[in-house]
Amino acid sequence: MDNPGLLTPRPLRIVLPGGSGQVGRMLARFFQERGHHVTVLTRGPYTAPWQTVYWDGIQLGPWVETLEGADVCIHPSGRNINCRYTARNRRELYDSRIGPTLLLHRAFATLANPPRLWMNASSATIYRHAPEGTEFDRPMDEATGELGGNEWISSRRRAPAKWNWTIQLVKDWEAAFFSGETPRTRRIALRTSLVFGPEPGSVFAVLSRLVRAGLGGTQGNGRQYVSWIHEADFARALEFLIANGEIEGPVNLAAPSPLPNREFMAALRDAWNVPNGLPAPTVLLAIGMFFLRTEPELVLKSRRVVPGRLRQSGFEFEFPDWPEAAADLVRQWRARDDL
Ligand SMILES: NC(=O)c1ccc[n+]([C@@H]2O[C@H](COP(=O)([O-])OP(=O)(O)OC[C@H]3O[C@@H](n4cnc5c(N)ncnc54)[C@H](OP(=O)(O)O)[C@@H]3O)[C@@H](O)[C@H]2O)c1
Repeated sequence: MDNPGLLTPRPLRIVLPGGSGQVGRMLARFFQERGHHVTVLTRGPYTAPWQTVYWDGIQLGPWVETLEGADVCIHPSGRNINCRYTARNRRELYDSRIGPTLLLHRAFATLANPPRLWMNASSATIYRHAPEGTEFDRPMDEATGELGGNEWISSRRRAPAKWNWTIQLVKDWEAAFFSGETPRTRRIALRTSLVFGPEPGSVFAVLSRLVRAGLGGTQGNGRQYVSWIHEADFARALEFLIANGEIEGPVNLAAPSPLPNREFMAALRDAWNVPNGLPAPTVLLAIGMFFLRTEPELVLKSRRVVPGRLRQSGFEFEFPDWPEAAADLVRQWRARDDL
């Protein structure tokens, strides 16, 4: 082995189309630091410790060469979900995921030696709402989890239309990804829960700001599960999937212990050493989210997603529980602030 720290017998060529967002940059840094050769395809090339190459996510171009003979393609592109679901934003959310996925299919079809593994972003939001203590409450793994869409969310109400829309988007995204044949390429859809890292602008940064301002109480009725994963485990899980050549199809990227929002926010407050937080009841949350130009769904939908396939294949989480993960993220945040 060239590098005893690697799970693979040699350094790999890894290409990340759309890999300059929160998840993509974290993965690029992780794989580059582990000795792999990383190329990010972006609409705005920049200087980085890894190679960045122009693509527009719409048309074939010279960027296709970066995939020729590469080992792994990890595709996380898509307009950020943190926005109001206006007609225009919905079109962009949809087109920026399905379009580049279909474009990559066209690119793969031209390659003499395509990557042996293609991992495409997907989302844990594909599963149905599963609030604590109701008849709908149970963990969702890849084998027994139920996909959402027009489900009952209480004995009287069905899921709001906007929830159905995002579920359908993810279903279409996965359908585009798994369409056609890729005889030499293994495909994995990454059904990812919220990825928690200590970067500015991340979901951790947003929730931490609320907590530190005394506004980090329970959101909604607090019985909606939060599925989360520490970014270190997210990157390690992808490395594991690269090294384990039999796994293909959808894989849940979530820590094994999702917890109700009430407990999730309490643990985050503990990590910041903030004793109290003003709760945000559902109505207030809807108003606040409107002014923040985002959607209440992001905190009100209950996602009780568990990593069935990763666990069965022997993946060990470094941060299986939220209190320890939150404490680690706060430590990292403070260490950076001290620089
Ligand atoms: N972060 C999470 O917690 C989370 C959880 C579940 C699923 N996901 C999924 O994982 C993916 C990455 O998430 P993220 O948080 O890293 O997102 P992000 O920070 O918003 O980055 C997304 C990247 O997609 C590219 N992009 C945006 N619009 C595009 C378009 N129209 N055509 C081509 N590329 C476009 C951008 O690259 P350039 O501007 O450089 O071209 C951008 O860097 C997304 O698909 C997201 O839905 C994320």
